[in-house]
Amino acid sequence: ADTKIHRASTTAPVNIAVIKYWGKRDPKLNLPTNSSLSVTLSQADLRTHTTASCSASFPAGDSLLLNGQPQDVSGARTQACFRELRSLRAKLEKQDSRLPALSKYPLRIVSENNFPTAAGLASSAAGFAALVRAIADLYQLRESPMDLSLIARQGSGSACRSLFGGYVMWDVGLEASGADSKAVQVAPAEHWPEMQALILVVSSAKKGVSSTTGMQTTVATSSLFPARVASVQQRMEEMIAAVKERDFESFGRLTMRDSNSFHATCLDTEPPIFYLNDVSRAAIRVVEGINAKAGKIVAAYTFDAGPNAVIYFEEKNASAVAGVFKSRLSHLEGWAGKGEGVTASATEGI
Ligand code: PMV
Repeated sequence: ADTKIHRASTTAPVNIAVIKYWGKRDPKLNLPTNSSLSVTLSQADLRTHTTASCSASFPAGDSLLLNGQPQDVSGARTQACFRELRSLRAKLEKQDSRLPALSKYPLRIVSENNFPTAAGLASSAAGFAALVRAIADLYQLRESPMDLSLIARQGSGSACRSLFGGYVMWDVGLEASGADSKAVQVAPAEHWPEMQALILVVSSAKKGVSSTTGMQTTVATSSLFPARVASVQQRMEEMIAAVKERDFESFGRLTMRDSNSFHATCLDTEPPIFYLNDVSRAAIRVVEGINAKAGKIVAAYTFDAGPNAVIYFEEKNASAVAGVFKSRLSHLEGWAGKGEGVTASATEGI
C-alpha cells in the first residue's frame, strides 16, 4: 500500500483592487455583481505560504492549520475548493491507473501569512490562491491559472485574481454556472516597472464586518449601490486603457474614485459600515495635498474592507509621495513596498 506522504508547497501574494469587487449576485458560487481589477503585489513581502500534503496513512478527515491555529474546513467555501480539486485529480487517476489515488487520501494543509490576517489586507485572497495552487501542484493537475481561478473564486472572490501577477481583471461573467467568472491578466508586472505601492498599516486588528456580511447588507439595503454597479463597467474600461497606456493620472483618478464609491455604498448600508477611520481620512488628505502640490495626480489611495491605505505612485515620484507620508504619519506601524518591484521592507515611522 502507498503510505508515502505526498507534498507540495507554494506561495501566493496579496492583490489590492483598484476597481473593487463589492456585491455578490450569487453568494453560493461567489459570483460578483461587477467586474474588478487589481494589482498583485508580487514583490512586496505580503504572502501566504502553503504546504499541502496527503497520505493514505493520515487519520481520516481533511485539516487546515493557519498561522498555527486549526481552522474549520467544513465551511462551504473550503469544501468547494477541496471538492473541485479532488474531482480533477480523480479524472487523471481514471485516465492512468498507475497514478496513486491521492484524490481519496485525507488532505493536510498548513498555511502561514506573514502579515495581519483579516485586517483588510487581502489575506483571504492570498490564502485561497495559495491553497488552490498548493493542492493543484500536489495533485499534479494540468489546469491553467485561469482554470484554477474559477476554483479559487469559490473560496474567496478576490482570491481568483491572486493566481496571476501584474494587473488582473476578474470578469463578472454572464453564465449562471459561474463558468466564465474568472481572472484574466491585463498586463504583466513588467509592463509598468515604475509602479510602486506603499502600504500603510493603520491597524492590524481584525475587521469589524466581514466582507461577506458587508456585501450582503450593502446589496440588500443601499440605494446608492445600483448606481455604483451601473457606473463601474465604464470605469473598468477606462482603467484597462489606463493600465495599457501606463497613464498614471487616469489610473490614479479612477482608483480613488472607485475606492470612494465603494466606501460611500458602505456608509449608505443599513446599519452603516465604517471601514475608514480618522487615520485613513488623514491619509486621503495627505494624498490630496501631494497631488495639489504636484499640480496633477502623482499618488492614489485605495482602501479595502479595513482602515489600511494602499498608496500607488510611480517611482519617479517616490520622494514626493513616500517621503511626505513618512514625515506626516509618524508613530504608525507599517511597511513600504514596491508594488511590483522590490521586497517590501518594514519602514519605521509610517
Ligand atoms: O474576496 P473577499 O470576499 O474577501 O472580498 C474582497 C472585497 C474587497 O477587498 C473590499 C475588494 C476587492 O475587490 O478585493
